[in-house]
Amino acid sequence: MFPPRILITGANGLVGQALTRAAARLPGADVLATSLSTAVVRTRGGTARLDVLDGDAVERMIQDFAPDVVLHAAGLAQVEACEADREACWALNVDAVATMAAACQRHGARLVLPSTDFVFDGTAGPYAETARPAPLNAYGRSKLAAENALKASRLTDWAVARTTLVFGAPAGVVPRLDLVRWLIRELRAGRPVRVAADQLRTPTYDDDLADGILRIVRFRRSGVFHLSGRESLSILGVAHRVAEAFDLDAGLIAPATTAALHPGAPRPLQGGLLILRAESELGFRPRSLDAALDAVRDRLGLDAPA
Ligand SMILES: NC(=O)c1ccc[n+]([C@@H]2O[C@H](COP(=O)([O-])OP(=O)(O)OC[C@H]3O[C@@H](n4cnc5c(N)ncnc54)[C@H](OP(=O)(O)O)[C@@H]3O)[C@@H](O)[C@H]2O)c1
Repeated sequence: MFPPRILITGANGLVGQALTRAAARLPGADVLATSLSTAVVRTRGGTARLDVLDGDAVERMIQDFAPDVVLHAAGLAQVEACEADREACWALNVDAVATMAAACQRHGARLVLPSTDFVFDGTAGPYAETARPAPLNAYGRSKLAAENALKASRLTDWAVARTTLVFGAPAGVVPRLDLVRWLIRELRAGRPVRVAADQLRTPTYDDDLADGILRIVRFRRSGVFHLSGRESLSILGVAHRVAEAFDLDAGLIAPATTAALHPGAPRPLQGGLLILRAESELGFRPRSLDAALDAVRDRLGLDAPA
């Protein structure tokens, strides 16, 4: 049914906030944005606390709200945190997804799960949906296991939306700064930054990701979709584009290797995603990186460079 009843988990997070904003704009949709801590996003359907690790609470929520679709944005997305506490990472990124899938199956809801290009080993990106996953770290392994848990579940109506390097968090409260917000903060303060020159991504504006996920819902598609920007560039390349777009001192940006920056957990180097399936089947049209940075500037209320 469209407009649907939409339940969002992890609504305070970077992805969850974008999904909540986009879902709340759908005319006639009933949206319930849930989060672990106090919600920062207001929606027509309201907000509620939901700990996705609490199976009873998940069951009650799905039964009572009776969503047509659950957008499951709760998760542990910090690579180092996953490495440091693999049990907590697995509980949230894998077990809680399996619990949610079972509840969705029992109550006739669909489930869309954000996933990542970190399911790949970074030897041949950007990757298509058909490429063979081979994660390098605990985070990537947990996300691949979550995808596999969905495939193995009795729920038939599920979709995985893999994305990468999401940015665009609005001014205000966010649990953690995205790369672009972090770069703006550091460079504006005149602090030098070291960023990976050897890590390729296809950066994703958060509103575009949310639009792609809602297209999956609207067109009732299932399976794996890649949703990201179209441009493949290094983190160093992103930093230079941010400096240019926000008139900041690019001289503060120094290249480094991923291994030097993140000795605790390897990352896929040649990562990023190919979005042909989403373009052709969903009409997904992400904006260019420059347009996305313009949108970030508007959101943050900053002036354009002279
Ligand atoms: N950000 C990216 O670049 C990126 C790229 C690829 C894939 N993804 C995927 O997108 C999803 C969301 O990532 P994100 O970047 O939005 O992460 P995030 O900003 O860290 O947000 C994750 C949210 O999960 C919530 N959460 C944690 N434990 C919970 C629990 N027990 N019950 C309910 N909610 C809980 C937190 O809620 P509270 O704030 O309320 O405590 C937090 O807001 C993850 O699955 C990640 O793998 C993200």
